[in-house]
Amino acid sequence: MDGNGRWARRRHLPRIAGHRQGVKSVHSVVETASNIGLSAITLYAFSAENFLRRPHTEISFLMKLLRRYLKEELPLMQRNNVRLSFIGRHQLLPQEVQERIAWAKEETSRNTGMVMTLALNYGSRSELVDAFKSIVHTAANNGGLGHLHIDEETINRHLYTHNLPELDLLIRTSGEMRLSNFLLWQAAYAEIYVTKTFWPDFRGTHLLEAIQEFQKRERRYGGLIEPHGAAAQ
Ligand code: FPP
Repeated sequence: MDGNGRWARRRHLPRIAGHRQGVKSVHSVVETASNIGLSAITLYAFSAENFLRRPHTEISFLMKLLRRYLKEELPLMQRNNVRLSFIGRHQLLPQEVQERIAWAKEETSRNTGMVMTLALNYGSRSELVDAFKSIVHTAANNGGLGHLHIDEETINRHLYTHNLPELDLLIRTSGEMRLSNFLLWQAAYAEIYVTKTFWPDFRGTHLLEAIQEFQKRERRYGGLIEPHGAAAQ
């Protein structure tokens, strides 16, 4: 959800005005995603780097916005049967935010539709570090490191995203051509869609455009595509 600051600057508004407007985009995207039957959507709300490098006033505004968002948007989640989930090192977030997260998770835990995951204080590299620590810890408690067996499935099982389906489409707003430490492992075969639209202008219709583009892509997963009409051998 990138471009909030630039959206605001273009309007001679403070950065927080961009974040506030960004909440409307989240609303629209969640509603559309759920209406078209997506099984999961993951939004990169605050990176671990944002936490370290943004001014205290901006972080504190974002924390307040998040708490308010979780409370005010609960009816949207319930109406759309959306289950909330969170990834990232939330244990480092302010106590009252952690409590609101736990509350929102519990309130939506019986919903059976789309899983909406918010990445908060998230970094893909720290997720991998946590996964490797968890693998070693689990092995140590289950017969010792001599029994340690690691393959891709083991790593998947220990990632924050272990309950989510394979990542198909990764959308980056505001024209940036990088992943910025987001779901690096999970994005191995994801289709990447970059739009110049700033997040505060992004709406459900933009999501549909991205999906339309995704549907035109040929996904080869390292294999070959048979020429049209070629008979299977
Ligand atoms: C990146 O834009 C955006 C953020 C660091 C915050 C994203 C937060 C929201 C969209 C609102 C809160 C979200 C929820 C779910 C309540 P930027 O500030 O880096 O923009 P810039 O790159 O233009 O400076």
